[in-house]
Amino acid sequence: MKNPAETVASEGAKLDYSSDMTYGDYLHLDEILGAQQPLSPVHDEMLFIVQHQTSELWMKLMLHELAGAMQALQNGHFNVAFKMLARVSRIMSQLVSAWDVLATMTPPEYTALRPYLANSSGFQSAQYRCIEFALGNKNAAMLKPHAHKPELLAMVQRAYDAPSLYDIAIGLLARAHLPIEAHNLARDWRQSHTSSPNVQAAWMVVYQDSSQYWDLYQLGEKLTDIEDTFRLWRFRHLTTVERIIGMRRGTGGTSGTGYLRAMLDVVLFPEIWQVRAEL
Ligand code: HEM
Repeated sequence: MKNPAETVASEGAKLDYSSDMTYGDYLHLDEILGAQQPLSPVHDEMLFIVQHQTSELWMKLMLHELAGAMQALQNGHFNVAFKMLARVSRIMSQLVSAWDVLATMTPPEYTALRPYLANSSGFQSAQYRCIEFALGNKNAAMLKPHAHKPELLAMVQRAYDAPSLYDIAIGLLARAHLPIEAHNLARDWRQSHTSSPNVQAAWMVVYQDSSQYWDLYQLGEKLTDIEDTFRLWRFRHLTTVERIIGMRRGTGGTSGTGYLRAMLDVVLFPEIWQVRAEL
């Protein structure tokens, strides 16, 4: 039986990488692992920073997958889009579990850290806002936090101006010759979609005749998965925040849990939920 050191030697592992691209080079680990710069002497600030940074990395991947899926759907490539949309839901589920790590932070630990955060808040996350807009929760006021950063503003504005994933899905219902009224197909994309009886009726046909509309049926379920996991994320954000700051105001200036609780009422894909009562 070889010991671990002998195994490494006998595997012929290359140990001199002085002239190669290494793992750290490829992943730019110097930059990523150099980006945790606590402002306070508080031990728990590292958790706070890593939790937010990893969430932002996963959001970056989520936006990448959402953009790919929206493009694929517009080109009629359902299967390509389904793989990407499934990945979006899995990422979201992982972020739901991630709240458990942050929940180990106690109120006094956060209170010690809070003065150093000043007015910074997840509310100002440009990537999060792009995700909300891509999923159809449009709100012009949410552009304002980025007004002083032209590149970020341009990114968020693009997501705000573009049709959402759900707008694209409604377009696909029409492409399958289901009767969708024109106002759902050519509208001001900067407004959130509001529930429309003809869209609900079209989903009804899809769900009742799934063998004929298999792609759209699958799409309906992928959208359901995404909204389901997103709701869980919102809920765990609220409960984690409540256990850490109680009823205090947020660093972003909102009422705190009052604001987060109100966000639980957002419905992204209304007819997909309404149709369930009829099936
Ligand atoms: C101790 C930890 C946390 C606390 C106390 C907290 C608190 C809050 C509060 C009170 C808000 C409402 C806006 C405000 O007034 O600031 C908010 C918004 C937000 N937070 Fe957190 N949060 C925490 C962790 C996180 C983490 C880890 C993320 C992950 C990126 C995050 C992402 C967001 C986002 C995206 C919003 C905007 C939500 C929306 O507009 O619907 N938060 N947070």
